Amino acid sequence: MKNVLIIGGSSGLGLELAKIYSNDHKVIITGREKKESIEYDFVSFDMDKYESTEGYLESFLDQLPKIDILIYALGYYQKGVITDISDDDIKMITDSGITVPSLIVKKILIKQGVLDTFIAITSTSAWTPRLLEPLYATSKAGLTMLAASLSLDDRIDKVMVAGPAGMKTPFWKNNPEVDTSEMLESHWVAENIFREVHEDFKYKYIQLLRKPERVVLVEKRQ
Ligand SMILES: NC(=O)c1ccc[n+]([C@@H]2O[C@H](COP(=O)([O-])OP(=O)(O)OC[C@H]3O[C@@H](n4cnc5c(N)ncnc54)[C@H](OP(=O)(O)O)[C@@H]3O)[C@@H](O)[C@H]2O)c1
Repeated sequence: MKNVLIIGGSSGLGLELAKIYSNDHKVIITGREKKESIEYDFVSFDMDKYESTEGYLESFLDQLPKIDILIYALGYYQKGVITDISDDDIKMITDSGITVPSLIVKKILIKQGVLDTFIAITSTSAWTPRLLEPLYATSKAGLTMLAASLSLDDRIDKVMVAGPAGMKTPFWKNNPEVDTSEMLESHWVAENIFREVHEDFKYKYIQLLRKPERVVLVEKRQ
């Protein structure tokens, strides 16, 4: 049975992917704190502790078995023009989309030599600039290019970038003014990612859009 590590798998899209993969994979998820309702193997990963604790990422990775499928779904909303965002918050969101996934893939490759599949969850913000999302967008655009670049590395069999539009998830919990009623269901997004990743390719970039709900293929390479 293959091992799937879902960074940011404790809620929303990551949790929906965990539900699907757990049918025939061993699933390990991360979040900041384990909630009682979580049925999957859980290892805590917290961006705040990553910033403040030396060796935090190494200790996190040391607890893991061999990883076959790595899904990077960690992400959080950050709202404001650039002068509204503190220096620390600029660094943390950039780290969350670029530095942390880079270090995780690097350290997994050094430890294992190979990785079957890397799936990077981005956003429409990766290609649509928005006034109030300068660093969120930058972190998602960076993650997109990280994944595309890693797809050229023969030690990784398959890389997929999945960029969803707005989804009804806890992502919006601190922004009650945002109307999520017409956003995508995260289980629809997860089902489509699962279906799309099972085709034969080396690199694939899909967008999961709404009104109407659809999957758009941006790029596919063997
Ligand atoms: N919802 C949307 O409208 C939307 C649209 C496009 C793209 N996305 C992207 O889709 C991905 C999944 O988001 P979602 O909508 O499923 O949101 P979600 O339910 O809030 O899930 C986010 C995941 O990231 C983890 N996470 C958040 N902040 C963290 C931090 N500071 N340190 C460690 N882990 C942290 C959460 O863990 P905890 O349990 O600790 O909170 C959770 O597992 C994200 O990358 C997001 O950017 C979301």
